Amino acid sequence: MSRLTQSAVWQSLTLLAQNIQGQHMRDWFKADPQRAERYTISGCGITLDYSKNLLNDEIKAALIELASQAKLKEKRSAMFRGETINTTEKRAVLHTALRNFSGKPVEVAGQNVMPDVMAGLDKIKSFVDSIYSGAHKGFTGQSITDVVSIGIGGSFLGPKIMSEALKPYWQKGLKVHFVANVDACHIQDVLAELDIERTLIIMSSKSFSTQETLQNTLTARAWFLQQGGSEKDIAKHFVAVSSNIAAATNFGIDEDNIFPMWDWVGGRYSMWSAIGLPLALTIGFDNFKAMLLGAFEMDKHFQTAPLENNMPVIMALIGLWYRNFFQAQSYVLLPYYHYLRGFPAYVQQLDMESNGKRIARDEEVDYDTGPIVWGSEGTNGQHSFHQLLHQGNTLIPADFMLPLRVPNQNRKHHAMLASNCFAQSQALMQGKTFDEAFAELQGKGLSAQEHECLARHKVMPGNKPSNTLLFEELNPHTLGALVALYEHKVFVQGVIWGVNSFDQWGVELGKILGNQILDKLEMPDSNLDFDASTNSLVQRFRDSTQ
Ligand code: F6P
Repeated sequence: MSRLTQSAVWQSLTLLAQNIQGQHMRDWFKADPQRAERYTISGCGITLDYSKNLLNDEIKAALIELASQAKLKEKRSAMFRGETINTTEKRAVLHTALRNFSGKPVEVAGQNVMPDVMAGLDKIKSFVDSIYSGAHKGFTGQSITDVVSIGIGGSFLGPKIMSEALKPYWQKGLKVHFVANVDACHIQDVLAELDIERTLIIMSSKSFSTQETLQNTLTARAWFLQQGGSEKDIAKHFVAVSSNIAAATNFGIDEDNIFPMWDWVGGRYSMWSAIGLPLALTIGFDNFKAMLLGAFEMDKHFQTAPLENNMPVIMALIGLWYRNFFQAQSYVLLPYYHYLRGFPAYVQQLDMESNGKRIARDEEVDYDTGPIVWGSEGTNGQHSFHQLLHQGNTLIPADFMLPLRVPNQNRKHHAMLASNCFAQSQALMQGKTFDEAFAELQGKGLSAQEHECLARHKVMPGNKPSNTLLFEELNPHTLGALVALYEHKVFVQGVIWGVNSFDQWGVELGKILGNQILDKLEMPDSNLDFDASTNSLVQRFRDSTQ
């Protein structure tokens, strides 16, 4: 058994989970009229109601003790201080420095990184200004009206999903298109609509070695040259964001057109850096900065609020409670706001790439780590997968999200959206008893047998946990705080599980094998020496493309 599962606090949490078997949240709410108030935290434009959880004060105290024993406070300080907490890659983890407006230095190996961070931000501002003012011109003297942002994973999801979320803040005169997949259908469709003279390509790749991004950029470059651009015009139409300046210049990007990012920013934590350039172009620099400020406010909350009233800490502990003591394999994100519909996919990378790990403190774990993250916008899911949330036997905790005010507010629509959101968490919590279902069916002309049978089908056990996150409105500031909230939640869980939340070795093997297979596809006469299944798949592909 690991040190973690052997610990007294882990053992007592196991007992506490057993003790509440058979108890129902419905009764807890009846017995304690203050429950919602006691289990609500507000800050940074966000209100978190976590009262509809299988939680009481004793459990909460034990979970906080678990965090304390994992030295959460010390590890949190180590991250913000720039210590090398990403041990397998020997890197600091400092996405928080990218939104550090405290005026205080942040040092990596004795070097204050803040002057570079602020210079990077100035470069973003100047570039955004030059596009909107028309000072930046294409090779025929036209101003830029379209931007194609090429990147994948963390170099794509943040800018794309946050742009979508902030649609009401889009600036006029510029349209940003995102391309990630190496499937040519995507880039070809996007480029087909664009006017070369007015298009700017942003290539975003921290490593500058990601196959999909390199290939899509080569395709965009070939398109540029075919459409009448020349090699010397490329500088006016291609910029890159990367920490690998040498590879970017080798690729042919002018050094002045490279926006730096740093070794100490992980891909999935990088939207605050120049990786966010497409987002800054979409919403304007002031809104981009407001988003950074929102994240900075959440950073302060995370660092200073007592653990029992600390949003990321509480959300992390609740998630861990279900993952480790109720074997919940997943949790679902349910944004009741159309513009936030991509958020589950963002958190999916953030959480699963960070905590989907099997080694903790250099040993194999004997407990579950990162959960599966999924979800989509409400109310759509209510007419599909919510059936399983309500009556399936699998425990799937949910995070509901709703802005209280929305742009172009249509009272009727918004009231319907909100009522559905609140009704879902209510239904999950309270459920429907057999007696309630039976009573509902009285007088419906059913035989006694049908009556009883149908009532059984209509029973909803309830006691299904959820958090509800309300936003005053989903503006750039609140969105920044929201993303930082989930980043810190993931960090806290990683600390308790003892995993390195900042490497991603698990994605490497597929990349290596993919390149080996690509060689075989491109050399149709070469010998196939993979396993029989892979050989046969490769051969079928070769046969069909000859
Ligand atoms: O393959 C995984 C990954 O490395 C992610 O962690 C990262 O966000 C993405 O690929 C893109 O990487 P890069 O920015 O280096 O192209």
